[in-house]
Amino acid sequence: LIAFFQPKLLAGRRVLITAGPTSEKIDPVRVITNRSSGKMGYAIARAAREAGAEVILVSGPTALAAPYGVRRIDVESAVDMHAAVMAEAGRSDVFISVAAVADWRVANASDSKLKKRADGRPPSLEFEPNPDILAEVAALPSGPWCVGFAAETENLEEHAQAKRVRKGVPLLVGNLAQRAMNADDTELVLFDETGHHAMPPADKIIAARRLVEQIARRLPVRPS
Ligand code: CTP
Ligand code: CA
Repeated sequence: LIAFFQPKLLAGRRVLITAGPTSEKIDPVRVITNRSSGKMGYAIARAAREAGAEVILVSGPTALAAPYGVRRIDVESAVDMHAAVMAEAGRSDVFISVAAVADWRVANASDSKLKKRADGRPPSLEFEPNPDILAEVAALPSGPWCVGFAAETENLEEHAQAKRVRKGVPLLVGNLAQRAMNADDTELVLFDETGHHAMPPADKIIAARRLVEQIARRLPVRPS
């Protein structure tokens, strides 16, 4: 009840979030994908909504239900996710890119099911790069304030800070992949132009609320 009367940190803001993996077609019955449960992105969508934002969640395939009050746009491939995000980015104040986007799609995907060959030889797949959704949104002339994510397996500090600069985003959230993958809790480290700030380990929804608070605090004041 007390929370009801407190000013909401993201009231009047439009927050666009990507979550989950993308799924890249090999043929009508086979895909190649990234490992992501979607839990962190969905928790952030919920926390942003609780903070008063209008939330649009562009989601790859997950087993999760859309958080209350959040508009979900379902996509499968990185190309679909890119199109959905670019359609919404211009009207959004914040973009939080949590999705584990496949870096490559299958260039020689087949419209009919690949059959096993008599000689037993497996098919060979060719790949082409997917668009970098976050880097593209970050480069928009008057685009939203961007937050990236990076799950690394080693040298988190070095990789995450370099990635933040390369993507051109003010805030990048790092975690160790082996720690967070499909878990209900996580340990996040924030990377910004001043350095890195470790957050305490917490349940993903608690970590999401703290992150939303950090984002709200850093957001530029809206031009009136
Ligand atoms: N990202 C994206 N589009 C892509 C690849 C990544 O929007 N095609 C976003 C992710 O959602 C994340 C951030 O970029 O917020 C970092 O993703 P990551 O995979 O860690 O970075 P990459 O630049 O792809 O580098 P690498 O996979 O080589 O570590
Ligand atoms: Ca990647």
